[in-house]
Formats: sequence, C-alpha cells, structure tokens
Amino acid sequence: MLALILLLLLLLPQITLAGDLHGFRATLSRIHQLSLGKHAEAVRRDSHRIAFLSAAAAAAGEAATNSSVSFKAQLESRAGGYNMNVSIGTPPVTFPVLADTGSNLIWAQCAPCTKCFPQPARPLQPGSSSTFSKLPCSSSFCEFLPNSSRACNATGCVYYYPYGSGYTAGYLATETLEVGESSFSDVAFGCSTENGMDNSSGIAGLGRGPLSLVSQLGVGRFSYCLRSDGDAGGGDSPILFGSLAKLADANVQSTPFVKNPESRPTFYYVNLTGITVGATDLPVTASTFGFTQSGGGTVVDSGSTYTYLAKDGYAMVKQAFLSQMANLTAVNGTRFGLNLGVNIDAGAGGDVLVPRLVLRFAGGAEYDVPSKGYFAPVEVDSQGRVTVACLTVLPTTDNLPVSIIGNLMQMDLHLLYDLDGGMLSFAPANCSEV
Ligand SMILES: *[C@@H]1O[C@H](CO)[C@@H](O)[C@H](O)[C@H]1NC(C)=O
Ligand SMILES: *[C@@H]1O[C@H](CO)[C@@H](O)[C@H](O)[C@H]1NC(C)=O
Ligand SMILES: *[C@@H]1O[C@H](CO)[C@@H](O)[C@H](O)[C@H]1NC(C)=O
Ligand SMILES: *[C@@H]1O[C@H](CO)[C@@H](O)[C@H](O)[C@H]1NC(C)=O
Ligand SMILES: *[C@@H]1O[C@H](CO)[C@@H](O)[C@H](O)[C@H]1NC(C)=O
Ligand SMILES: *[C@@H]1O[C@H](CO)[C@@H](O)[C@H](O)[C@H]1NC(C)=O
Ligand SMILES: *[C@@H]1O[C@H](CO)[C@@H](O)[C@H](O)[C@H]1NC(C)=O
Ligand SMILES: *[C@@H]1O[C@H](CO)[C@@H](O)[C@H](O)[C@H]1NC(C)=O
Ligand SMILES: *[C@@H]1O[C@H](CO)[C@@H](O)[C@H](O)[C@H]1NC(C)=O
Repeated sequence: MLALILLLLLLLPQITLAGDLHGFRATLSRIHQLSLGKHAEAVRRDSHRIAFLSAAAAAAGEAATNSSVSFKAQLESRAGGYNMNVSIGTPPVTFPVLADTGSNLIWAQCAPCTKCFPQPARPLQPGSSSTFSKLPCSSSFCEFLPNSSRACNATGCVYYYPYGSGYTAGYLATETLEVGESSFSDVAFGCSTENGMDNSSGIAGLGRGPLSLVSQLGVGRFSYCLRSDGDAGGGDSPILFGSLAKLADANVQSTPFVKNPESRPTFYYVNLTGITVGATDLPVTASTFGFTQSGGGTVVDSGSTYTYLAKDGYAMVKQAFLSQMANLTAVNGTRFGLNLGVNIDAGAGGDVLVPRLVLRFAGGAEYDVPSKGYFAPVEVDSQGRVTVACLTVLPTTDNLPVSIIGNLMQMDLHLLYDLDGGMLSFAPANCSEV
C-alpha cells in the first residue's frame, strides 16, 4: 500500500505539469509519398506493420505477443508513415521519429551505441545532457513494458527486443522532451543502444497506453490533418496537441473508441457498423468487424497506407464495386500489389467515375470517403492518361484479422483523437488551413 502511494506521488508532478498546458503544434512529414507503380512496395511495407498490429491485437495479455515479430514489424513499418521532430535532452538534440498511433513506447538511438544505424541525427549522448536520468526498475513506467521484453539488472530497466537478423535493446530513462514549441520534463523514454539493420532513428508512440507520448504529456487530445500525396500545396501536415486540437468545421462526425476486451490498451479501435457502396447498404453485421478471440475489430492507424477489411466485409465491398462498375472491365489488381482493378477508357478523359463509399460507425458517424481515398491510378499510357485504377482497400489475411483504416483514407480529413472524451471525431478539411 505504501509503495502504491509513493508511486502515485512520483507520478503527480507530471500530471500537474501536463494539466497546465494550453496546447501546441508540430508537423508531420510523410516518409514515402505514394506514387504510381509503387503500390506493391507500399503493400509490402504495410504487411509488416499489419503483422505487428495483429500480433499485438491478438495477444490475450502479453504472453501471446511475439515481440520478435512485432518489433521488427514496428521498425519496418515506418516507411508508410509520418515523421515528427522530437528534441530530447539539454541541450536538445532533434530526432525525426515515427509518429505512431499503433504503439506506446517513445524511443531514440542512444550513445554509447554498440550497434546503431547511421542517421542524420547523432545518437543521444546521455552524458552530455544535464536532464538525463535512468529509470529504476521500481518505476511504474518499467512495469508498463511487456514482461517478455523487459529485464532488470545493474543497467536499470532494460528492454531487449530480438528481431529478424538483429535486435534492439536499451534501457528506460527520463529526459526533457520538446515537441513543437513546447517542452516537458521527466518524460520516460527508451534509450536504445543496440539496433539492427533498419534506418529508424526512433518512434514516438501515440497509442492509448501509459508509456505513450500523449498519455505521459497528459494532453487529453490530439488531432492531425494529412495532406494528400501530391497535394499542390505539398509539404508537411499539422499535428496539434491539447487545447489546440479542435475541429472548426460544422460538419463534425464523432464515434466512441471501443476497447478490445482481449488486449492491453494501445490501439484506437472504432466500431465500424456499416458500409454503403453507391446506393447499396452492405449487409454488415456486428460480427463482420467485431472482436474475435484472435483479434478482430477496426483500428484507425497513422502508419498503415491502405485500408484493410476483414475478409467477409471486404468480399461484400468488392462485390458491390464489381456489380456497380459493370460497364468497366475488371482487372486483377495483383500485379499492381492490390486486389481489384478496373480498366479506364482513355476516352473518358481519365476520369474514374467510381461509386461512392461511405463508412458508418457506432453513434451515427458517417465518413463519405473522397474517391482518391479508395481508388488510385496504377497505370498510365504514353500520354499520361490513366488506364488502370485500383481499389486501395484490401482484404485482411486469414491469420491477421484486424481491420485497419489506413492513412490514404485519412487524407484531407481533420481527425481528432479525444482521449479524455473517448471519441474519434473527424471533418473534411483543407489541411493547409488547419
Ligand atoms: C525536423 O527538423 C529538421 C532540422 O532540424 C528540419 O529540416 C525538418 O524540416 C523538420 N521536420 C519536421 C517534420 O518538422
Ligand atoms: C516468433 O516469431 C519468430 C519469427 O517469425 C519465430 O521464429 C518464433 O518461433 C516465434 N515465437 C513464438 C513464441 O511464436
Ligand atoms: C508481469 O510481471 C508482473 C510482475 O513482475 C506480474 O504481476 C504480472 O502478472 C506479469 N504479467 C504477465 C502477463 O505475465
Ligand atoms: C543488462 O541486460 C542487458 C540485456 O541483456 C545487457 O545488454 C546489459 O549488459 C546488462 N547490464 C549489466 C550491467 O549487466
Ligand atoms: C537505409 O539508408 C541507407 C542510406 O541512406 C540506404 O542506402 C538504405 O537502402 C536504407 N535501408 C532501408 C532498409 O531503407
Ligand atoms: C458495435 O456496434 C454494434 C451495433 O450498434 C453493437 O452491436 C456492438 O456491440 C458494438 N461493438 C462494440 C465492441 O462496442
Ligand atoms: C458506368 O456506369 C456509371 C453508373 O452506372 C455511370 O455513372 C458511368 O457514366 C458509366 N461509365 C461509362 C464509361 O459508361
Ligand atoms: C489474381 O492473380 C493472382 C496471381 O496471378 C491469382 O493468385 C488470383 O487468384 C487472381 N485473382 C482473381 C480474382 O482472379
Ligand atoms: C487550401 O488552402 C490553401 C491555402 O489557403 C489554398 O491555397 C488552396 O487552394 C486550398 N485548397 C483547396 C483544395 O481548397
């Protein structure tokens, strides 16, 4: 009991500090723009991420989590996502890290590196920062790490994730962190001294767990608006935290986050209750996208490119598009890395007239997806006219049953993750005006 009280007292200064903040802004930059002919590559990157999301989602508790698979996937998955600058230490060193709604730990490469990958940002030098301090194993933050990848020794609270040909390992510490123009003291993060062959300089976990950036800063809510690939305005996308995170538009839709009873809180699950293609309401039931023993559910994810629907749901969507686009010739999308394609008559001026796609969520929220959020040109002729377009929605595979709303489908949309209110809200937006 006494230990519990002490822990609470230790946590208090952070909570108080966070409660004082007004809100701050940072920017996200896309790691890889999606381009014609690059879908197969992007789908492959997604597949690693999905392995990670699904393994974590499927884990009843943590015993079942294959952290070997999941961490590798987490590292490789950055390619489809967005980087955000986080400055660590005093004086601060800036790292571009993956802004990841699908994980919790914040980590960066730390010296002395026994094995690190070359990065534009040098590894953090704990010895040269006046605000660095190691976390003891008795820290509650240490206990928030999965048991299977955590150890306690003279180094402190050590994590060790083997993956593929290598591994990453380090220890938990606290540091001063700067995001945007705001600075926070004593934020727990992973100081990674050993890394494999990936080009990752770190991750800022934005998940729902207690180690995540948003949980630790106590921001209560955050929002982002992803510019579409090839947006004439180009450039970065805004991410807003705390009181700055709010939707101005009148046409705001909201749906509550739901919890997967089988797993620890990391993901932003929403309850996808219906889909309309053209004028047809598909026969979606509570079990189509519902939780199952091996996972299930639907997550909103910043780091997956495409949208993945549980097999039965996908089959309905595909069938509806096929029957409503019967005047177009269907193409097997496999050679483009996708699933359903259509031939576009060059005479049509390259305009792809596709049926409307509306996703419905518990609580009445509806997302009328802009067509470029679910159809993409994949082939052009010598004059640059689109000849084949593909559905950028894919089926989940047998063993990976979690459905994912990926970032292509989130573009030109201002999404608000209201952690305090337990709601996801969204409204169409011009991201350069957010
Ligand atoms: C991150 O910082 C670097 C230099 O410090 C800058 O060039 C880059 O544009 C920044 N990226 C973002 C997404 O803010
Ligand atoms: C975890 O995944 C790795 C790589 O696929 C595999 O070699 C290992 O056997 C798996 N471990 C468990 C406990 O499933
Ligand atoms: C993790 O370890 C803690 C204490 O070491 C223990 O109380 C808890 O039950 C363990 N959790 C699992 C899933 O093994
Ligand atoms: C603690 O454990 C890690 C991972 O096994 C290891 O790399 C490190 O050297 C250990 N530290 C000490 C002081 O034994
Ligand atoms: C890592 O970066 C190096 C140099 O920037 C590049 O040659 C290599 O292909 C990258 N590897 C991956 C897996 O992205
Ligand atoms: C999702 O909504 C459906 C329909 O309202 C309901 O039957 C189901 O229990 C909900 N699922 C969750 C996980 O809240
Ligand atoms: C195909 O059918 C759709 C809807 O039935 C229609 O809007 C579109 O103009 C047709 N396209 C062509 C090329 O005939
Ligand atoms: C598409 O092509 C792939 C590989 O060529 C094949 O495995 C798959 O069955 C085809 N799909 C359809 C619907 O014909
Ligand atoms: C978005 O806003 C910018 C800046 O105000 C403007 O230049 C651009 O035309 C707008 N884009 C659209 C599609 O309305």
